[in-house]
Amino acid sequence: MSNSGNQLFTPFKLKNFTLKNRIGVAPMTRMSGGETSIPRQDVLDFLVRRAENGSAIVYTEALVTDFESAQGYPGQARITTQAQIDAWKPVVKGIQQTGAIAVMQLFHCGRMGWPEVNPARRLIAPSPIAPAQDNPLTGTPYPVPEEMTQFDIDHVINGFVETVKGAVAAGFDGIEIHGAHGYLISQFLSEYSNTRTDNYGGTVENRYRFTHEILQAVRKVIPEDKLLLFRLSNWGVADMEVSLFKNAAEWQSVIQMLSAEPIDALSVSTYDFQQKAFETQMTMSELTRTSTNLPILLCGKIYNRQTAEEALEHADIVLFGKSALLNPDLVEQLKTDSDLKCFSSEDANIAYTDTPLP
Ligand SMILES: Cc1cc2nc3c(=O)[nH]c(=O)nc-3n(C[C@H](O)[C@H](O)[C@H](O)COP(=O)(O)O)c2cc1C
Repeated sequence: MSNSGNQLFTPFKLKNFTLKNRIGVAPMTRMSGGETSIPRQDVLDFLVRRAENGSAIVYTEALVTDFESAQGYPGQARITTQAQIDAWKPVVKGIQQTGAIAVMQLFHCGRMGWPEVNPARRLIAPSPIAPAQDNPLTGTPYPVPEEMTQFDIDHVINGFVETVKGAVAAGFDGIEIHGAHGYLISQFLSEYSNTRTDNYGGTVENRYRFTHEILQAVRKVIPEDKLLLFRLSNWGVADMEVSLFKNAAEWQSVIQMLSAEPIDALSVSTYDFQQKAFETQMTMSELTRTSTNLPILLCGKIYNRQTAEEALEHADIVLFGKSALLNPDLVEQLKTDSDLKCFSSEDANIAYTDTPLP
């Protein structure tokens, strides 16, 4: 191990929660929900098991918000009915019983939606612009979305509020608004997908307005002692090579606006945490640190003790995606500084099958 510190197994105070270590399981969609929009039992059990395996934070997959247009993949989970709330309660309890905290992530897919799996079959986005690449799940182009009206915007915000109410009723310790990866919130933030000429487009302050309205609206229904987090990235799952923010200054101004919101932490999602950001000599997390006092969670190719300690030089908590998905012994092996593998996306495709994970 390099001399890059020894932070990973130290506690961290996140608002009123004391985390036993700096290790979190990143949010990972599994598409196992079927007709009920409740994940398969083994998918729910997996989350509890990862808490038992030693992670201090366990994220759910991203749940979808409103019923009309939010869904982008088949089998995604929702939490707006009593049956759905009841299905998540034992998961939350199971995670909490290990001393870990349970965080529900939620999002709207926007132009990355899939009209056929949405009851109203709508596809909406800030502007009528489709991603350049094909939808990998269908092998066909993404359809051009409808430009959202003010009514749509208000309705979508309400969808976030209703889903957050479900998460609160299920007892989650925290709720994360997914503003990353090129989904709806990210589409509003980026000039690449937002060419609006009203109050929601143009300047970075205008493109940020939708995020602001969501965060303000959901905070009102989250008890003060629970966490509200926000996830942000400069990359999207479609058109991955595109920089969603124009430059470091634009990223930093969004971070500053987020820092003025009633949120408790920022989750920075990178493709590779070691990469330099924009035209700077800083990584994305270093750049973020210079613009906020909020606690930072960091993710992206952090897979062994050395990369985790390195990541913690400019972050407070590290999130493991594929490594947490595929390796139940991750935390123990991080403790002993074992020789760990950096898993590929192909390795992770098992997430979308009905094979139970270890
Ligand atoms: C199967 C799978 C599903 C994912 N689903 C989500 C998701 O629902 N929400 C999200 O923010 N990120 C999602 N991600 C991205 C991960 O949270 C993480 O950012 C990414 O895997 C990079 O971290 P890693 O290099 O440790 O794997 C997913 C990743 C995988 C592999």
